[in-house]
Amino acid sequence: MIITIVGGGSTFTPGIVKSIALRKDELGVEEIRLFDLDKERQDKVAVVVKWILDEDLKCGIKLTVSYDPAEAYKDADFVFAQMRVGKYAMREQDEKIPLKHGCVGQETCGCGGLAYGMRTIFPMIQVIDDAEKYAKPNYWILNYSNPASIVSEACRVLRPNARIINICDMPIAIIDVVAAAMEIKDKENIVYDYYGLNHFGWFTGIEYKGEDIMPKLRDYIMEHEILLPEAYLKDKAALAGKKTNRHAKGSWYYVWKGVYEIMQNFPDTLPNTYLNYYLQQKEFVEHSDPNHTRANEVMESREKNLFDGIDKYLETGVVDDTVFYAGSHGDWIADLAVALKNDTKARFLVITENRGCIPNLPYDAMVEVPAYIGKNGPEVLTQKPIPLFQQALIMQQLNCEKLLVEACIEGSYQKALEAFTLNKTVPSMNVAKAVLDDLIEANKEYWPELK
Ligand code: NAD
Ligand code: G6P
Ligand code: MN
Repeated sequence: MIITIVGGGSTFTPGIVKSIALRKDELGVEEIRLFDLDKERQDKVAVVVKWILDEDLKCGIKLTVSYDPAEAYKDADFVFAQMRVGKYAMREQDEKIPLKHGCVGQETCGCGGLAYGMRTIFPMIQVIDDAEKYAKPNYWILNYSNPASIVSEACRVLRPNARIINICDMPIAIIDVVAAAMEIKDKENIVYDYYGLNHFGWFTGIEYKGEDIMPKLRDYIMEHEILLPEAYLKDKAALAGKKTNRHAKGSWYYVWKGVYEIMQNFPDTLPNTYLNYYLQQKEFVEHSDPNHTRANEVMESREKNLFDGIDKYLETGVVDDTVFYAGSHGDWIADLAVALKNDTKARFLVITENRGCIPNLPYDAMVEVPAYIGKNGPEVLTQKPIPLFQQALIMQQLNCEKLLVEACIEGSYQKALEAFTLNKTVPSMNVAKAVLDDLIEANKEYWPELK
């Protein structure tokens, strides 16, 4: 049983490896392989991965580090993908270029997300082709690589038979925060209903041990004027510290504040935090620092802490395990693999083709919805038609993302311009064109040529 991690040099690799190793018996895993294009980065991360497997957990799982797809994917059962095409340097451009034009500058939303999508579509198809060629015939690719919404649409169009499930950790991160706010320790007893696109969805119901906790949660958010639990807020230092939920650090603060602001106007559902960028685009631009964005925060914290920690270990032999992020992110992907392997029919939120699940969205929309996971993949729960407000927002975003995918495949400038113009974060077609042209220039190395 082999798990190959593509994007082995990711800041999330140590946490994911830890989650896999802690499920060694359920997964029957014998070998973990790391695959990345950046040798220097992956070799560094491999040092801490080896420490986790051999020293920390002493679990007997073999580690292989490779830069050759034939070796990395050979006979793999699972491929966990988490590539950041263009790395943080390009994330910074995705965030700063739109901001220069007065538009939301975000990694996966708005123009930045479209740019990141354009970079990631073909590398993701390469992952599928390598898995088809070298991995076991019944392989599963579990993909975190962003922007997951655009990536999943491209995979649906270009490789409809691929055994890939695209996932996101934001809804479970929100549930973690909800559990902390509601002082629920056993979050596994929380069951929720949800619909939308990736980074564009709503919780319609949240139950704890059969009790509807939405009213209590709404009261909490209205009273505290934010959805971050007291514990995080009391200790302001925690917002920059190491031990807190990583989604509570730095500029993430506005994200949780935004949940309150959205619910003041639309109190029926709990919004995915990413809806802030579409419903408060003006306010986001106002509180952004165009010279210091989230990419800078991550480079100065998560990335720096990890690589400094590895250097320190190499010098002193001492590992401070707070230097790498471990938690729900790794648990979610490893638990999903357990459900697929052992046919458990456990409930997960996944990004999958609609096929009538939400009756008033297109059949072929890639939606994010709850599903029961067994050995043949997701079995989706059918839902009721969604309200007009949400349906219209979703259709605008969906068609924007579909046009972006078509633009990338066909090399069409026209369709790219339509995608940018259609995005709700962009105020006019002229701004769309200006941002697109700057992003084309910045992405020369990565994007297909647009004619
Ligand atoms: P990172 O830059 O630390 O790691 C990404 C790694 O991918 C780098 O080592 C890079 O060299 C490698 N890479 C780039 N292109 C590659 C390719 N074509 N083939 C193989 N490897 C390649 O980034 P990070 O912050 O740790 O995030 C990793 C990825 O996970 C990103 O795509 C991020 O958006 C995504 N992510 C997704 C979710 C989710 O909810 N879906 C949550 C967290 C992170
Ligand atoms: C959430 C989202 C991911 C995104 C990440 C960014 O977890 O679900 O899709 O990649 O946030 O976090 P960061 O700490 O890198 O800003
Ligand atoms: Mn996500």
